Amino acid sequence: MQDIKLMIIGAGQMGTGIAQVFLQQGFNVTLTDHKQENIHRATEHIQENLNKLVLKERLTTNEMEQLLVNLNSSIDLQVASEMDFIIEAISENATKKFKLLSDLGNLVKEDAIIASNTSSFSITELSTYVINPERFIGMHFFNPVPVMDLIEVVKGVHTSEQVSNFVFELGKKLEKSPFYVNDSPGFVLNRILIPMINEAVFAVHEGVADFKSVDTIMKLGANHPMGPISLADFIGLDTCLAIMETLHEELGDDKYRPCPLLRKYVRSGKLGRKTGEGFFHYK
Ligand code: CAA
Repeated sequence: MQDIKLMIIGAGQMGTGIAQVFLQQGFNVTLTDHKQENIHRATEHIQENLNKLVLKERLTTNEMEQLLVNLNSSIDLQVASEMDFIIEAISENATKKFKLLSDLGNLVKEDAIIASNTSSFSITELSTYVINPERFIGMHFFNPVPVMDLIEVVKGVHTSEQVSNFVFELGKKLEKSPFYVNDSPGFVLNRILIPMINEAVFAVHEGVADFKSVDTIMKLGANHPMGPISLADFIGLDTCLAIMETLHEELGDDKYRPCPLLRKYVRSGKLGRKTGEGFFHYK
């Protein structure tokens, strides 16, 4: 399996983490992005993370260097034409994903498999933008990817059995725990997690307690590793809002209504850790 030609599109926090876990299992990875600076930042981040493993004596310097040799990068989408397996991990924006998948359609090999790391969009709908919908699937990773065990394997209406088995086995090869889930807004994890985060933001918005208290109350009282406000900053407030909007649009109902305070943060460009400021400051 390690000899497949693998490409990850999108060198943001998810694409970077996905690239790292594949590298650590001996895969050759081509990481692409439309901006060279994103690839540069991703490569530095992977090097730093692997370096930490060397310091913890879980990897030798030699092994780390060998893994890094297997990391290739490009800002040219044309490299997709050589690939067997492509993971789309660009930002959670439907228009951008539709465009990317349509562009890939003219490039990829007929038998290539395309997987999307979308957090909430319909896999069946995304599959209508590729040439071979039966070779399209959801492979949803969680942040931080090197740490989180879960992968949601999402079958669209057209996804073939062979492709879903392949992606499930691939998840196991990464030493993760893949689970099949049906194609439904937010799948399982985000359907439950993001409304909880949204509710925490509502509690702040309505003045039930300040954001630090809401965060700590959930951490201490529900034994969560991170409070919901810290987690929202960690995931990215824009991603949380995009997922809430999908849930609201697809499932209706007031319980999925995005909190105006969440929207306000996103509009002001305070997106969480990745911009240095969300509810908390990170500089
Ligand atoms: N990359 C790689 N490794 C990381 C890491 C990162 N970004 N952050 C932490 N780690 C590693 C540390 O190196 C450490 O490893 P070892 O135990 O092997 O030495 C381990 O994780 C624990 O880290 P820390 O001791 O520094 O900190 P912690 O115990 O507070 O854990 C955390 C940090 C793992 C992030 C933990 O707070 C946590 O699990 N938070 C919740 C994360 C979560 O819920 N993620 C899902 C988000 S939803 C999503 O991603 C889906 C979506 O579509 C939006």
